[in-house]
Amino acid sequence: MIVTVTPNPALDVTGHVGRVVVGESHRLTRVTARAGGKGVNVAAVASALDVPATAVLAVGPESAATFETDLARRGVAAVLVPSPVPTRRSVAAVDADGEATVLNEEGEAPPSQTWDALVEALALACDGSDALVVSGSVAPGSPDGVVTRLLRTGAAAGCALVADARGEDLLVALETARREGWRLLAKPNLSEARETLGDDALDAAACAAALLDLGAWCAVVSDGARGLVLGVRDGDGVAGWSARLPEPVRGNPTGAGDALTAALAAHLGPREPDWERALRAGVAWSAAAVLRPVAGEVDPADVARLETQAEITRL
Ligand SMILES: Nc1ncnc2c1ncn2[C@@H]1O[C@H](COP(=O)(O)OP(=O)(O)OP(=O)(O)O)[C@@H](O)[C@H]1O
Ligand SMILES: [Mg+2]
Repeated sequence: MIVTVTPNPALDVTGHVGRVVVGESHRLTRVTARAGGKGVNVAAVASALDVPATAVLAVGPESAATFETDLARRGVAAVLVPSPVPTRRSVAAVDADGEATVLNEEGEAPPSQTWDALVEALALACDGSDALVVSGSVAPGSPDGVVTRLLRTGAAAGCALVADARGEDLLVALETARREGWRLLAKPNLSEARETLGDDALDAAACAAALLDLGAWCAVVSDGARGLVLGVRDGDGVAGWSARLPEPVRGNPTGAGDALTAALAAHLGPREPDWERALRAGVAWSAAAVLRPVAGEVDPADVARLETQAEITRL
């Protein structure tokens, strides 16, 4: 069982427009709204592939009903903690060529009582679960170290931990993981890893090695269509793999990282994971997500086909 928590969820609004012109006003047609945010996407992809998952998140009063109905329709188990602050929106305008222009609100931090309620709900959900995934941004004005607080809730329940985070949030989580002996898998993409490490010249393998040095138990650095690198502590040493498809697929890459995160989390448990299997799933689930027009979806038939194509190389 996977639990995900999304510190800054979003109502994903998608509409259609002939062409987007900067400085002009646009009329969106066929507008839909759905529950969004990285942890929601992770739980949705896992659920689609029959891996039990629960998304935990705090939602504002205006969005609660939409989130509840949409997640139920999509078969995603969720614990929605009421928040007094409005949930941010992410508005995508899809043009005639299928190209999306997205405007993301940054979001507003909930008050401390909401964080407390979220942590309480998370502790209940983590009890007896294998892995906790903390995914995505944190609204400005949120308490320092809130990502680490969420991870600690999973660590206390004995869960393996996954952090899809960047910058200070990730650095503090890594330092705490080292100090407290957490099994923390860090999953930034390459540009997030470079930004966090403050070195634009590092390649994915060097980023993974640096994240392990900083306290990660496992580090996965994804690099879009070029695939990913995984490094993991192995006794006193380190084991590493790269993984990719021989040919990239075409589609919408938004949410590919979330599908990769879901695959990795699905292979974590009390025992040492079979990393090559986890990587094969990671390559397939994430490429299958690219083939779907919206984040948080995969077609199991695509996954089955792509798993046979994944190339896994020991570094
Ligand atoms: N065009 C593609 N073809 C095949 N696989 C892809 C393609 N784009 C991405 N992937 C797979 O998805 C993984 C994650 O992609 P990426 O590094 O873009 O994640 P990300 O930036 O974290 O995405 P997001 O945060 O939007 O979910 C890659 O490591 C790769 O395995
Ligand atoms: Mg990502």
